[in-house]
Amino acid sequence: MDNECLDSGSFKLLITELQIRHRTKQLAVKIADDYRGKDLVIVSILKGAFMFAADLLRRLYYLGIEPDLDFMRVFSYGKGDKSGGRIEIKLDVSLELKDRSVLVVDDIVDSGKTLLHTKEHILAMGAKEVKSCVLLDKPSRRECDFNPDYVGFIIPDKFVVGYGMDYAERYRYLPFITVVDTSGSK
Ligand code: IMP
Ligand code: MG
Repeated sequence: MDNECLDSGSFKLLITELQIRHRTKQLAVKIADDYRGKDLVIVSILKGAFMFAADLLRRLYYLGIEPDLDFMRVFSYGKGDKSGGRIEIKLDVSLELKDRSVLVVDDIVDSGKTLLHTKEHILAMGAKEVKSCVLLDKPSRRECDFNPDYVGFIIPDKFVVGYGMDYAERYRYLPFITVVDTSGSK
């Protein structure tokens, strides 16, 4: 009965819990290979990446990677299903990042502005290198020159919720990812 619920009406199941688990494991293997022996800090972007980052860190542990962890809260303005053009850092990292390797973990890249800005911010703090890992990528929506280094799934231009991602703060708790039809509620 894998994720039967919320696959009706305005919701259409896109990625199952099992698919997320398998892909996260594959990403962790690649990240572990790339970062073995390095002084790694993972910076997870709140709130959307909380579930993905937690699962990724647990996988990394079993592969012998034990990074430090920090959080940022970065807002791209606009409520609902559009990420706006204005970016504001609401919570900054508290760890010292100077000369360290940083991997920013986020839920999804849309226009790319949030992660481009976040990467520049972390580089300005003196990090040695900054890469990014996202569970989802919507390349057709890109508005700036940014591409994540590790991508779980490339998805079409649809608004998705679940596994940390929200629509007006709802549905973050879902263990799977579903497309939500937002056309009727703007
Ligand atoms: P960007 O700055 O346009 O790349 O926006 C990235 C942020 O917008 C993500 O971290 C999400 O918080 C949010 N976002 C973009 N697309 C979606 C979506 O389909 N569902 C939920 N949140 C989204
Ligand atoms: Mg986000």
